[in-house]
Amino acid sequence: MKITMVVGARPNFMKAAPVFHALEKCEGTELSLLHTGQHYDRMMSDSFLEELGLRAPDVNLGVGSGSHGKQTAEVLSKFESYLLESPQDLVIVAGDVNSTVAAALASVKLHTPVAHVESGLRSGDRRMPEEINRILTDSMSAMLFVTEPSGVKNLAREGVDSSRVHLVGNTMIDTLKRFEPVVREKPLPIELPSKYALVTLHRPSNVDSQETLRGILDAFFEIAETTPLCWPVHPRTRKQLETFGFWEEVENHPGVVLAPPFGYVDFLGLTAKARLVLTDSGGIQEEALVLRVPVVTLRENTERPVTIDGGGNILTGPDPEKIRAGAKEMLSRDPASFQIPETWDGQAGERVAREIVEFLQAGGGL
Ligand code: UD1
Repeated sequence: MKITMVVGARPNFMKAAPVFHALEKCEGTELSLLHTGQHYDRMMSDSFLEELGLRAPDVNLGVGSGSHGKQTAEVLSKFESYLLESPQDLVIVAGDVNSTVAAALASVKLHTPVAHVESGLRSGDRRMPEEINRILTDSMSAMLFVTEPSGVKNLAREGVDSSRVHLVGNTMIDTLKRFEPVVREKPLPIELPSKYALVTLHRPSNVDSQETLRGILDAFFEIAETTPLCWPVHPRTRKQLETFGFWEEVENHPGVVLAPPFGYVDFLGLTAKARLVLTDSGGIQEEALVLRVPVVTLRENTERPVTIDGGGNILTGPDPEKIRAGAKEMLSRDPASFQIPETWDGQAGERVAREIVEFLQAGGGL
């Protein structure tokens, strides 16, 4: 059973690792790890592979950055060449980045079945590149591994045959649970006040418009007066802060500690020990829920409604007033009351591996 697991961008690694490790233990599997090269900086890529104990990729397509069309097309074309040279019985993709959809398309066109880890999530916002990637990847997948009940409903609404859909839990949370004890013990990677808010911001809708980014900064500075901010800056955001002439102002603000992107363990430590998280990321909403740290999500919608229903998350969009009010509200909630889905138990990767082996032993299929 020849299986290739595809990774490409930072959020893929922690979702892929538990599945890869569980499949390594299954007899009769011949596994390859393929990196598309979408992310390439050490702190966006290799450091994660090392920390998570994933081996160096067997293949790196080296696609790098580019417009959506160019990046997706490069992965499509290069991954197709790889599959033509090394035919596979199954390709596994994770999450919703450009590498995910492109690898899925190349595979299914060559009649190689696709398994999608973190399937079924929908924000309902088609202006979000990841939403398009999710819809298309799910429509091409033979096996759809879902993290939360909303995913099962979304796929049913889109007419996906329920025999393909497996509510297995959250493989990213498997990784979190594996590292949580280490993270709780390890000192933080930078010096911070005892009560701080962790910031992550990288979504084009928040950082590509000067006016929007200005409003977000104003809200951040006000929050920083009572809760200082720790902000590891994504390369894209740094570029935008510099372009708009905001970088020095943020850097010199007494309530803001700027930092470069961190590796997995350090970042999880920063999340676990934060009083509050301000983010526009997807996965961090889930990680913070499990770590019982309240989240303010600077988006109008979320594909992860279980974090809202569980009481750990609030949506504000980029409106400064809503961000300020959201922070106040979330700081008043009791994290002990947050509800965490039962299937987020650290065993999702094992469940995925079992389903995959069963599927391939039964002959696979598109
Ligand atoms: C991508 C994903 C997004 C995910 C995010 C996590 C898509 C559509 N988006 O967004 O879902 O949340 O990764 O980080 O796939 N850059 C570097 N070094 C790198 C990688 C990127 O400097 O190693 C810079 C480049 O200027 C690049 C920009 O970041 O143009 C954007 O990178 P890209 O992979 O296109 O998208 P992300 O914003 O990282």
